[in-house]
Amino acid sequence: MSTPTPTLDFTNIQGDILEGLAKKFETFVFFAITDATHFRQRLKAIIPLITSTTQALANSKAIADHKANGNCDLLKLVGTNIAFSQTGLTALGIEDNVGDTLFSKGQLADASDGVNGLGDPGVVNGSTVDPAWEPAFKEKGLPHGCILITGESKATISERLQEIETKLAGTVKTITQVDGNVRPGTEAGHEHFGFQDCLSQPPVIGFREPNTGEQPTEPGDILIGEQGDEPDNGVTRPTWTKDGSFLVFRKLRQFVPEFNEFLAKNPILDNGLTPAQGSELLGARLMGRWKSGAPIDRDPTADNLTDAKDVNKVNDFDYSDDLTAQVRCPFTAHLRKTNPRASVHPGLTNVQKNRRIIRQGIPYGPEVDSEEAQTHTSKHDRGLLFVCYQSNISNGFSFIQKSWSNNPNFPATGSGFDAIIGLNIDNPRVTTGMDPQNVTTSLALPQQLFVAPRGGEYFLSPSISALKTIFLA
Ligand code: HEM
Repeated sequence: MSTPTPTLDFTNIQGDILEGLAKKFETFVFFAITDATHFRQRLKAIIPLITSTTQALANSKAIADHKANGNCDLLKLVGTNIAFSQTGLTALGIEDNVGDTLFSKGQLADASDGVNGLGDPGVVNGSTVDPAWEPAFKEKGLPHGCILITGESKATISERLQEIETKLAGTVKTITQVDGNVRPGTEAGHEHFGFQDCLSQPPVIGFREPNTGEQPTEPGDILIGEQGDEPDNGVTRPTWTKDGSFLVFRKLRQFVPEFNEFLAKNPILDNGLTPAQGSELLGARLMGRWKSGAPIDRDPTADNLTDAKDVNKVNDFDYSDDLTAQVRCPFTAHLRKTNPRASVHPGLTNVQKNRRIIRQGIPYGPEVDSEEAQTHTSKHDRGLLFVCYQSNISNGFSFIQKSWSNNPNFPATGSGFDAIIGLNIDNPRVTTGMDPQNVTTSLALPQQLFVAPRGGEYFLSPSISALKTIFLA
């Protein structure tokens, strides 16, 4: 008997989780609750501003229609979501165990947890080692929550922010505000190293049909309380958590001129490639896609814009034609580490089930300027405001980061790091598989990370019905 397709209530699920809020700009306001009683009362006025999935879908359609009608200007659209940390729930007097150990522990503790933790580089602080984060993210017990505001312009975001500040006045204090911006012109949709991002998202059953090559994902992998949800330690989650999702935020600084210099110094000079082509190939093999987004498992020797632009091709691969050879894609490519698809370990296809996350990040910071490019040295702060959603942080983000990207012995002994995001305090920073003609050759990665974590927190993005009940006075 086949399992019926679950019906999801899109009016109840915050819009950033499944669909994503439409954005050219995004502001994250990390706040402390200074007066819980009045915050609970004032929240009532914020709830009508929260963008549901129904609204987010309508916004995406409005943008598509606007473009299809030949318009080049941007529709004025604002989006707002809200999420709370464990200390935020506690500050509001919500004592329930929501069934996620890492959420309860908080990201600062996770990043400070030595070999069991995220692996963020540390700074010595008396007798302990703290992650080398920005001070705003290291305030103990804070932030209590985060308000996400998106828009087609900074002005639209400011307007909404002012409205929220007025409504919440006297009940919250801003700990820090972080602003993201989609990159300009033809780089829109590309992260700062230049690669098209967010091409592979899990097709959640009941939300959208899979494109060719995509594996359907149970809604409970992303949404709490839905089919497939697995709380930590078999905890029965409180009913109000249903249709919420755990939001992982990470401020990840990217060292772009340094990354480009590394590519320039280590070209793969197989089959008569020029140095420039060899550097481009190394970049593609480190990432697992060409800058256009074409997957190297399909297109191992040259970029392919047709594959990149076709939703039925861009994820139509699973490494099954390259299980051990790494001729098409290295084991350690960022793409293959973070989603090994049908890769090497027996049973991995099943393991993959609860490893899927929905990524909704946005770049931040300016483009590389000519001085930075010439000196191969970053002067300005830029990177990715990484956001991902899952129903269980240990199964999703944390497992991908710790057990796959940080683990030099995944998927095979001695494979090496995910050169893009791999973090590990103790192991030498080495990767393999980059030269398709000699995949056992190791490539030493510079001591300075290409991507350095600068802060973050674990949040719960509650359903709209939860906001209207448990969170109100
Ligand atoms: C600055 C840091 C990062 C950069 C520059 C980056 C870049 C990219 C790019 C260009 C892609 C390919 C586009 C796509 O397939 O959607 C990708 C895919 C992906 N990334 Fe990242 N990423 C970063 C951080 C992370 C982190 C922290 C995680 C999780 C721990 C992560 C998990 C993934 C996953 C799951 C995929 C999709 C893999 C697939 O389904 O084939 N990324 N990333």
